[in-house]
Amino acid sequence: MKNILVTGGLGFIGSHTVVELQKTGFRVVIIDNLSNSKIEVLEQIKSITNAKPGFYNIDICNKEALKSFFDTEKFDGIIHFAALKSVSESVQKPKEYFENNVNGLANLLAEIKNRNLNNLIFSSSCTVYGQADELPITENAALKPAESPYGETKQIGEKIINESCASNNLDAIALRYFNPIGAHESAKIGELPLGVPQNLIPYVTQTAAGIREQLSVFGEDYPTKDGTAIRDYIHVVDLAKAHISALERLINKKNKSNFEVFNIGTGKGTSVLEIIQTFEKVTNQKLNYKIVKRRSGDVTSAYADTTLAFNELNWKTEKTLEEALKSAWNWQQKQL
Ligand code: UD1
Repeated sequence: MKNILVTGGLGFIGSHTVVELQKTGFRVVIIDNLSNSKIEVLEQIKSITNAKPGFYNIDICNKEALKSFFDTEKFDGIIHFAALKSVSESVQKPKEYFENNVNGLANLLAEIKNRNLNNLIFSSSCTVYGQADELPITENAALKPAESPYGETKQIGEKIINESCASNNLDAIALRYFNPIGAHESAKIGELPLGVPQNLIPYVTQTAAGIREQLSVFGEDYPTKDGTAIRDYIHVVDLAKAHISALERLINKKNKSNFEVFNIGTGKGTSVLEIIQTFEKVTNQKLNYKIVKRRSGDVTSAYADTTLAFNELNWKTEKTLEEALKSAWNWQQKQL
C-alpha cells in the first residue's frame, strides 16, 4: 500500500481528498495544526471510509517538529494543502501569510530533499492569473502581479517548487483550483468557515439558514451577461479526485516534465445571480440579497480551460452545479 502524506488534511479540500485517497487504496497520514480545522473531521473521515488516517498535530512552520515527524515515516507522495487562505486577512496580516505559506513550504521542501522523497502535489489557485486577457484561461496565460499577499504566496510557492524540481530531482504538480464549493454527499465533511464567511457559497448557505441576515452581491455593473461577476465553481469532490489523478501520474512516472501545472475547474462560467437562482431552485429557499458596490480586488470573469487536465490527467468533472449547491445546503443544515 502506498503511503501518502497530506498536510492540512483536515481542512475543506484536504479532508475530501483524504477520503478519495483512502477509497482509492492509499494509506494516508495527515499533519495539520488545527488552526482552521477541527479534530472531529478525523472521525468523520473514518465514518465515511471505514479507515482512520494517521494524524499528527504539527505546524509546518515548526522545523524541529517537522524533522522529528519525518524520522518516523517514509512516504511515496505528498499532497500539500497546509496554508492560510483568506484574501482579505492576507492584506491585514501579510507577514503571517508569507511565514505559513512560503516558509512552511520551504521547510517541507527541505525535508523532502534531505530524505530523498518525491512526488509532490501543490495546492495552487487561479488567483495567480489575476484578470486574464483571454477566456477560458489556459495554463499558458501570463501570471499577473498578485492582487493580494495570499495570491503572491501562491505564485512564490509555485516558483520555489519549480526551482526545487530543477535542482533536486523532485517531481511535482501544481493544481490551480478555480472556485471549490459543495460538500461530501454524506454531509459528514464540508467547509467550516471561521467567523463571517468571505466566500460566496458559505455566505449564501448561512443566509438561507438564517445565520446571516442578507447576502450582499458585490457589483452588478460588470461587463457580463447580467452585470455580476463570473467564476468557475467546482464541486470539491471532483476537485479532490483531480489530486488522485495527479498523484498517480507522478507515482507511475507519466509526467512529461519535473514540474507541471494544471487548471482544475469545470470550464463553465457562472454569474453571482445565476448562483443565487440555482441555489433557490435546488433548495426551495428564498434568498434575501441586495446589490452593493463591487468588492475591491475582484476580477470580472475567470473560468478554466480544462483541456490539459482532461488530456493529461484523464480527469474531468462529474458533478453539476446543482449537485454542488445542494450538497453545500445539506452540509449547512447539519451545522445548526
Ligand atoms: C477568492 C479568492 C481566491 C481564492 C478563493 C478561495 C479573491 C479576489 N479571490 O475567489 O484567491 O482562491 O476565494 O475560494 O478574493 N461574492 C458576492 N458576495 C459575497 C461573497 C462573494 O457577491 O458575499 C461574489 C464575489 O464578488 C465574486 C464571487 O462572488 O464575484 C465569488 O467570490 P468568492 O467566493 O469570494 O471567490 P473569489 O473571489 O472568486
